[in-house]
Amino acid sequence: MSKHLLSLADLTKEEFEAFFKRAVELKEKKQKGIAEPSQTGKSLGLLFDKPSTRTRVSFETAMVQLGGSPLFISSKDTQMSRDEPIKDTARVLSRYLDALAIRTFSQETIEEFAEFSTIPVINALTDAHHPCQVLSDLLTVIEYKGSVENIKIAWIGDGNNMAQSWINAAAALGFELHLACPEDYFPDAQIVANATKKPAARITLNSDPIAAVKDADVVNTDVWASMGQEAEQEARQKIFAPFQVNTALLDKAAKDAIVLHCLPAHREEEITEAVLEGPHSVVWDQSENKLHMHKAILDILIST
Ligand code: CP
Ligand code: NVA
Repeated sequence: MSKHLLSLADLTKEEFEAFFKRAVELKEKKQKGIAEPSQTGKSLGLLFDKPSTRTRVSFETAMVQLGGSPLFISSKDTQMSRDEPIKDTARVLSRYLDALAIRTFSQETIEEFAEFSTIPVINALTDAHHPCQVLSDLLTVIEYKGSVENIKIAWIGDGNNMAQSWINAAAALGFELHLACPEDYFPDAQIVANATKKPAARITLNSDPIAAVKDADVVNTDVWASMGQEAEQEARQKIFAPFQVNTALLDKAAKDAIVLHCLPAHREEEITEAVLEGPHSVVWDQSENKLHMHKAILDILIST
């Protein structure tokens, strides 16, 4: 396995399965009150350019539960804010830390960090990908559906970082993924092309939310304007209105469908209160699983 986790496009099916297996083991141990201090004395840096509730707190808690120490680094308080180059920062932080989780805007930033780091670099969200989120969301799917084999997952809304990570996961794992996005908000064409040429890929992309959710086992959405797109919020609200996950749309899915949302959610925009708080929603379990999956990611990457 590559020592970094930058995009799910880099993972094989076996590597996905190793993350799921370790997360299940760590979750079971936590539930039984058995400590797993596999990273005692190790440090995780969290270098964040964007806000976060779940990813920051679950990574910090994950490292504490593994016996290590998290260190939150707001990038505006570093010398990077005074133009110290990424390649210098990466080499210096590598001398102090055992892993570095980064949340930033461009994927190129995180790739440059990885190039110059001698420690694992973990993508904690970029404009292009949110790999750790989709790994933990897949853990939730496995818990509710038994596996990711032979299931249909619908993605409704923006062709954003989350959608692109789902596309990469589908290409490696072979579940059926139907995306419905407004035409001008499709995922990146290169990411789609690279994914769909993989032999396992069963990916459909169009602008028809009803076709996407028809008989789906999992219905998945995200905000219409991601972090950094706040100026587009008003315009997007109009364009995305037909892509709201509401009771009428959910009625087209399988009777036992689960609803995922990585959160934060904007109620009555991409998802209604009735669906988010309704019987199909598993968003709180989904959020919890970030903790267990982040422990697995740290344990595997730091120990490899
Ligand atoms: N889902 C997610 O990444 O949430 P945060 O932005 O709160 O970390
Ligand atoms: N697509 C969202 C995900 C937030 C966790 C964003 O990038 O803001």
